[in-house]
Amino acid sequence: AERAEHAAPADGPLVVAHRGASGHAPENTLAAADAAAALDTTWVETDVQRTADGELVLVHDTTLARTTDVEEVFPGRAPWNVADFTAAEIARLDAGSWFGEEFAGEPVPTLAQFLDRLTRNDQRLLLEIKAPELYRGIEADILAELEASGWLVPEPPGTRLVIQSFGAESVRTVHELAPGVETGFLGTPEVADLPEYAAYADQINPRYGDLTAAYVAEIQAVEGPHGEPVEVHTWTVNDGTTARAVADLGVDGIITNFPDVVRSALDG
Ligand code: G3P
Ligand code: CA
Repeated sequence: AERAEHAAPADGPLVVAHRGASGHAPENTLAAADAAAALDTTWVETDVQRTADGELVLVHDTTLARTTDVEEVFPGRAPWNVADFTAAEIARLDAGSWFGEEFAGEPVPTLAQFLDRLTRNDQRLLLEIKAPELYRGIEADILAELEASGWLVPEPPGTRLVIQSFGAESVRTVHELAPGVETGFLGTPEVADLPEYAAYADQINPRYGDLTAAYVAEIQAVEGPHGEPVEVHTWTVNDGTTARAVADLGVDGIITNFPDVVRSALDG
């Protein structure tokens, strides 16, 4: 765990459990955080959205249909948008059975519940603000929850928390509201635009198919908002061959549903 802060590419990329160890347990649940912990995986990625009554909950899709039993529990509420349900309603849902009967009854966690579990597991968080255009002001809400849960204590950026989004404006807002927090932009900017992103993003995190060694090096050549080279954490790498290939491109991190598969490929 001690190498987890900023693993230099020379040490091999950091391995990040995508939506928890979501190849082994239902994505974005406490069970998925625990599955990552059981695989000695310190960093966990998850996706945060906001309910109708302002609670922060962890769901990937903007609807609840794929990963819960919402269609059975609330049949009249199509298209089952996260934003149209209260926290109490979402708490009634089963977010585990779709993945496997052994996970039946696993709830959709709130951000607060997830932070508590990561704290207990001594894990770290790559938090994605999902679809920020749907949730005005969610950045401040997230920072307030992180503060209340003890996750904004002063420490070097990126030690325990990185906040990322596909929404560049959302990333910029997080940086402006909490300049000490490390941030990431999800996407593949043009090389000429990298300095503009690096004004507020410590990481630039493209899908792995977009990477070349030259592009990775171009990103890492730019200085981020905390005076360090911008890092590259790529997604979603679920097989050993691809893991070795992106490690050879020099990435700083690999985001995967199968931390065990990636780590054994990198070690082997
Ligand atoms: O962390 C990167 C990855 O999670 C972005 O894509 O769709 O899985 O949220 P997605
Ligand atoms: Ca995500």
